[in-house]
Amino acid sequence: MPIIEEKVIPKKAIIDTSEVVIKLENLTKKFGNLTAVDNVNLEVHRGETIGLVGPNGAGKTTTIKMIAKILRPTSGRILINTNHHELEDLQKVSRTISNMGFLIDIPTFYDMTAYQLLRYFANLQNYPKEKMENRIDDLLALFKLKDWKWKKVKTFSKGMTQKLGIIQSILHEPDIIILDEPQTGLDPAARIEIRSYIRELQSLGKTIFVASHMLYEISEVCDKIALINYGSIVGFDTVENLARALKTNELNCVLLNPIASNELEPLLTHLTEKLNPYLEQNLDPSTSKIPIKYNPEHQGLKIFYDGRNESKGEILKILIKEFESDFTVISYIQPRSSQLERVYLEMIADDAPKNKINQNGVL
Ligand SMILES: Nc1ncnc2c1ncn2[C@@H]1O[C@H](COP(=O)(O)OP(=O)(O)O)[C@@H](O)[C@H]1O
Ligand SMILES: [Mg+2]
Repeated sequence: MPIIEEKVIPKKAIIDTSEVVIKLENLTKKFGNLTAVDNVNLEVHRGETIGLVGPNGAGKTTTIKMIAKILRPTSGRILINTNHHELEDLQKVSRTISNMGFLIDIPTFYDMTAYQLLRYFANLQNYPKEKMENRIDDLLALFKLKDWKWKKVKTFSKGMTQKLGIIQSILHEPDIIILDEPQTGLDPAARIEIRSYIRELQSLGKTIFVASHMLYEISEVCDKIALINYGSIVGFDTVENLARALKTNELNCVLLNPIASNELEPLLTHLTEKLNPYLEQNLDPSTSKIPIKYNPEHQGLKIFYDGRNESKGEILKILIKEFESDFTVISYIQPRSSQLERVYLEMIADDAPKNKINQNGVL
């Protein structure tokens, strides 16, 4: 049974997925000398769910606030297609006719009941009065908040408040829904629930733009992921393609004692020579420039190999036999983190320009 009934959000008859509904053009936002959003170019097509994923401080909320017209871009522009005809400069589109719904920040809702609050937002969006009562009741029922209709929002749990925030964002039946960290502060069960609501909105043809610092949480429901770091988009593709682009096979080899810094370079050269037949020959330079790295912090060697089990065996034999006098291997593992997590971590690490260090020191 669909979670969101037809009567709650009317279905779009035909969705033209080739239609661009949001276009960010060289979008830039500076706060003093900090570039929070740096020359972002991005297109979202009708009916797509796009995840804007990056660590805290990456520029997600700033991007969304510019789309919501809460912040003005320093340069660049935002184009929106709200009328199924053409893209228009957002600066010239008024908020109420823009047919967008937003969930931004953790909602802090005054001294109102759930009903009062939703009525307030419905009025703000000029939602037709005759439809409003049913709409509020339907959505409260849908999000399992029916019994809380007359309760003060300040008594709600974080999860309930967040759900109310989502109701607020879809209340006026927008075609484009923009959610900033919808899963923040929710327990795992509530996060699963939120994902199922997102899926229902997708099935109704909504265009969804969702920001999150939790790649796993969000990738499952997104058609494409835009990875953002230090304000720049460092990758924009389907999750599968992003993972494929950086497909690497790595082995982590922990040593009993650290390698002295003066011995490191000749040792790495020797290792590379000996292990060469088993190493990754087409290493993606954005993953690593050399096939064997030493991490002094973990006293470990990171080896990018060709992915064959036979090679794994041969590498271990060589490390133990031929390097007996150089080091002792105490653990030899293939990291369990998924391909996707690595894509994220590596893209983020490799795309951190030294001259753009975040003022807060937050990655
Ligand atoms: N109003 C502001 N004034 C100054 N700096 C800000 C402001 N808002 C955000 N920033 C900074 O811009 C960067 C991006 O922030 P934000 O867009 O909130 O990131 P995210 O949502 O990805 O965590 C951060 O370094 C943040 O400290
Ligand atoms: Mg944010």
